[in-house]
Amino acid sequence: MDFVEQLKSSVDIVQVIEEYVRLRKSGPTRYVGLCPFHTEKTPSFSVNATHQFYKCFGCGACGDVLKFVTELERISFYEALKLLSERFGIPMPRRSEYSDPETKLRAALYQAHELVEQMFRSNLESSIGPEARSYLGKRGVDPAVAREFGIGYADRSGRSVVRLLESRNFTPEQMEASGLVLKRDDGTFYDRFRHRLMFPIHNESGKVIAFGGRALDPGEQAKYLNSSETLLYRKSYVLYNLHRAKSGIRQSGRVVLVEGYMDVVGVYASGVHEVVASCGTSLTSQQVQSMRRHSDQIVVNFDPDAAGASAAERSINLLLDEGMHVRVVELDGGLDPDEYCKQRGASAYVEKVNGAKNYFYWLADRARGKFDMRTAEGRMAGFQFLLPAVQRLSNRLERLAVVNDVAGYLGVAAGPILENFRKAAGDRREKAVRPEPESVRPVERLLLNLLLVNVEARERLVPELKRMHAVERFTTRKIFEALFALDEAGESVAFSQLDTRLDENDRALLVSAVLADGTSDSSPSLEQGEACLRALENSEHESRRSQLKARVKAAERDGNFAEALRLAEELARIERE
Ligand code: UTP
Ligand code: MN
Repeated sequence: MDFVEQLKSSVDIVQVIEEYVRLRKSGPTRYVGLCPFHTEKTPSFSVNATHQFYKCFGCGACGDVLKFVTELERISFYEALKLLSERFGIPMPRRSEYSDPETKLRAALYQAHELVEQMFRSNLESSIGPEARSYLGKRGVDPAVAREFGIGYADRSGRSVVRLLESRNFTPEQMEASGLVLKRDDGTFYDRFRHRLMFPIHNESGKVIAFGGRALDPGEQAKYLNSSETLLYRKSYVLYNLHRAKSGIRQSGRVVLVEGYMDVVGVYASGVHEVVASCGTSLTSQQVQSMRRHSDQIVVNFDPDAAGASAAERSINLLLDEGMHVRVVELDGGLDPDEYCKQRGASAYVEKVNGAKNYFYWLADRARGKFDMRTAEGRMAGFQFLLPAVQRLSNRLERLAVVNDVAGYLGVAAGPILENFRKAAGDRREKAVRPEPESVRPVERLLLNLLLVNVEARERLVPELKRMHAVERFTTRKIFEALFALDEAGESVAFSQLDTRLDENDRALLVSAVLADGTSDSSPSLEQGEACLRALENSEHESRRSQLKARVKAAERDGNFAEALRLAEELARIERE
C-alpha cells in the first residue's frame, strides 16, 4: 500500500473535518454541517464516515480527507500529507516525490518562522530583554501568559534574524520570501523588526506564519509593524489567535472579536478563550468564514473611538451578510477590551460580554447620535440608515420583529415612516433553490452501497453482475462499469477512487446514490445484495420470456413453423431453469 493509501486508511475524515467545521450527527455514519467552502444558512455539507468522503449539496465541493485539508488550508497535496501525518503520528517516508518548488519553499519558510520565533522568545528571557519584560509588566501581562502566546523580543541590532537564517543555510531567495528581512540596494539583508515586542501569528493549524511587532519606543513611527505578505501569510485570510481560540469557540458557542493583539492577550487572560482579532486590516469575508466554521454567534468588541465605531459598522454589515448572529459589547469609560480587563477586572469584562446586546440596538444608538429623531426627516434618515442591516436578516418574521423593537427603542411607535419601514423590511428576494439530481432506483442504490464497502460481496456478486444485461439498463450503468474496471485492475474500490473516474453527471448520481439524505445509513448485507441479484435475474428472465413468446407468435403468423418450434423449445427450456 502506498503512503497516501496508508494515511487515508488510518485517519478518520470525520475527526479531521470536525476540527474545522461544526458537524452534527445525522445518521449512524453520516454528519452534516455548514459548508466551509461557500456561505449558507442551512447545512448542506455532508460527511460520510463509511465512504470517508465529504460532499456539499449546495456548492458541489466534494472529496476525500486530503482534498479537504488541501482546499481548506490552501496548501499543496504534499503539505496536506505532511500535516495529517504529523497530527496523527504516522511517520512519513522521507521522499519528496510530491513536492514541487513552491512547496519546498513554503517548508523552508515554516522552518524559518519556527527558528525566528524561538530566537525572539529566548531574547525576551535573556539579558537583552529587560526593557521588553518591563514593558509587558507595565501592561499587566503575566510572564506565563507571555509564554503561552509566544511573545518575544526583536533586538536593536537589526542583524539577528539575518544572521540566524544565514547560519542555518537559508538561501537569499528564501530569506527574501520570508517577509522577515529586507534587502538593501547592495543586495545585503537587514531585519524587518528592531527593538519591538513580537507577537507570533499562527495559521489555523498552529504554525507560525508571520509576526506583529509593537514598538517599545513611544517615538517610533509605526506603533505596530507586521510581516509583509508571503507565501505563508495572506493577511485577509488570517485571524489572530484562531488556532488557540477554536476549542473555546466550540465550547462557548460564540466568537469574541476584538481589534488588536493586546486586546486578545488581555481578554484571553481574563478567561474569555474564544477571542480573535483581525489585526490591522478591516474584517474580510474570508476571515468571517473561518470563524463561522466554528460558530455563527459573534460578539464584537471594537475600540470605543470613532475609528473603532466606523470599523464596527462596516464589520457588522459584513458579518450579517455572511450569516452571523451579531451582538455588540459596549464598554464604559472609553476603554478598549484590554484596558477594561486590566482596570475593571476579568469578571466585570466577562459580564459585559455576556450582556452584549443585539447589534441593532447599537446601530439604533448610532442613528440617534447621527440624526434628530424628534423630526420626521430625522426619523426617516435614521430608518434609512438602519434598513440595510435589518434587510440582511434572512427570516421575515425576525425582520418584522426587529423593526418593531427598534422603533420602540427609538421612541417611534407609529406613523407613516414606520409603516414604510415595515413594508421595506418585509420584502426581500430569496435565492433560487438548486434542482435535485436525478433519482436512482433502490436496487442500484443498494448494490452500490454494498459493493463499495464489502469485499466479500464484490467477490461474489461482481462476476455475476458483469454477465447480466440488466446492468446495461441501469441509470448508474457508467458507475457500475467503472467499479468493474477498478475491481478487475485489483485496485481498491473506494468511493473516492470511483468518484475520480466519473464525469460530472455520473458523479452526481453516485453522490445521490450513496451520500444523499434519505439513503439508508447502515450498509446493506450480502444477503440483501444476493436478493437484489435474484430479483434482477427474474426480471431479466421475465423479459426474455415475453420476448420469446412474442417471437413464437410472430413466426406462427408468418407460417415459419420450423422457427416457431425452435423458439418454443427455447422458451420451454428457460421456464424449466
Ligand atoms: P490599536 O492601536 O488599538 O492597538 O490597534 P492595541 O492592540 O490596542 O495596542 P496597544 O494596546 O496600544 O499596544 C489595533 C490593532 O491594529 C493593528 C494592530 O494589529 C493592532 O493590534 N495596527 C495598529 C497596526 O497594524 N499598525 C498600527 O500602526 C496600529
Ligand atoms: Mn488598544
